[in-house]
Amino acid sequence: MIFGRVKPLDAILATAERKSLHRTLGWFQLTLFGIGCVIGTGIFVLTAAGAQKAGPGLMLAFAIAGAICIVAALCYAEIAAMIPVAGSAYTYTYSTMGELLAWTVGWALILEYAVAASAVAVGWSGYFSGTILNQFLGIHLPAWLSAAPLALGGAPGGFINLPAVLIAGLITWLLMIGTTESARVNAVLVAIKVIALTAFVALTLPSDSFTAGHFNPFLPAGVFGGFGTGVGAVGAAATIFFAYVGFDAVSTAAEETKNPQRNVPIGLIGSLLFCTIFYILVAAGAIGTIGGQPIMGPNGIPFPTGSEELARQCALPRYADMLVCSNEALAHVLRAIGWSKVGNMLGIAAFLALPSVILILMFGQTRIFFVMSRDGLLPDKLSAVHPKWKTPYVVTAMTGIGVAFAAAFLPVGQLADIANAGTLYAFMMVAIAVMILRRTARDHKRDFRTPALWLVGPLTIVGCVFLFFNLPSAAMLVLPIWGAVGLVIYFAYSRHHSHVGRGIVDADEAPLH
Ligand code: ALA
Repeated sequence: MIFGRVKPLDAILATAERKSLHRTLGWFQLTLFGIGCVIGTGIFVLTAAGAQKAGPGLMLAFAIAGAICIVAALCYAEIAAMIPVAGSAYTYTYSTMGELLAWTVGWALILEYAVAASAVAVGWSGYFSGTILNQFLGIHLPAWLSAAPLALGGAPGGFINLPAVLIAGLITWLLMIGTTESARVNAVLVAIKVIALTAFVALTLPSDSFTAGHFNPFLPAGVFGGFGTGVGAVGAAATIFFAYVGFDAVSTAAEETKNPQRNVPIGLIGSLLFCTIFYILVAAGAIGTIGGQPIMGPNGIPFPTGSEELARQCALPRYADMLVCSNEALAHVLRAIGWSKVGNMLGIAAFLALPSVILILMFGQTRIFFVMSRDGLLPDKLSAVHPKWKTPYVVTAMTGIGVAFAAAFLPVGQLADIANAGTLYAFMMVAIAVMILRRTARDHKRDFRTPALWLVGPLTIVGCVFLFFNLPSAAMLVLPIWGAVGLVIYFAYSRHHSHVGRGIVDADEAPLH
């Protein structure tokens, strides 16, 4: 039963055939698109959480997470070029391992997309409150309006993160009325982000404040901080893995790419390599100038990020200026070394560019819900298309409410860890699906073949499992609990309504904007 109800590959491809798109994208646009999806809260904000987990070993963490994403990207490239339809990992699993596992992947993708969108919204809120309200307008939002409750790891006096709720609401509205980001807007936003990070690297690495002593000890919490603690270099890697999430969007553009065999892998690997190198340089600049040692608990282990204890420590004047306590890590570093104006400009860059990451993630979420509902696994009503806007407005509104709710009450580090748990599961299933298809659809046309798949596929699986087990235990637990809720819904509703189960092989896709 577990592997039952496989959706025939031919039916899936027929859908793709009908809506076949013009092949217009080259490697450069794809790489730009990848960088646009990837650079966001991970580097602009989670650098602080990463340093709290690993200290200067954060640089190693970026390298580990980047390497795992690169092997995963190679798997994505093959399957996306072969099954170029909406739904990504969910659809791939449906066509290889059947409906039940596909459902679990679709369900986990809610964590990858919706919860990640919440995390980016909270990250944006830090820059909005710190740079726009505080530095420019002189307005100090009280803690109860700008942070999650202390008991959930927010800040003392925190209750609700209002800016995060507002940005989630605004993006939801834009998506409902049919806004998608044009390639030109994406290119401008990528330029803004890259210029901001380049300025950061150019000002920090040669700075007088940069000293080798800041890197000592390099691994204050070790490489492996201990199961379930989420600290150490690999614990940090499991968290800042978030900084790479979103590259899979490149693979979904495979059917719009010229010469995908060459351009999809260049776009995927190119954007990931670019980000990995950039991230390591940014981490070096941040830590080398103001230091990035964690605040240690009484047991000699760093206080967990997103914990009440850490929030209390960070509220003390002697820790307030530490990298690990900042809500706008990179702007804070520049201000601390005397480049306040550039720090503020970087804050504006984050303020302008992060909403586009939220938009891409929420867009991805609505499309996954849409495909699941078109398959009958979620109620039809969800895929209703608005007569005027031509968007799936019901799922979009629901997604927006969920994203805003999570962003209101949880801190960024915890949201990112939860999103990572779901993403790692989805990446693992994609690697398995690629290997299965090599056996079951041996002769099928492949625009791109993963090189050394029998090495790269298992490496992806091991890498994802490895990172998963280095998340903090609470984030690890979310996945099975979330999965169990999903299974109850599957057996109570989806299984009886599934189109594949009822013998309806395919339904045409309604036109969407
Ligand atoms: N990788 C994206 C970010 O860091 C999700 O914001």
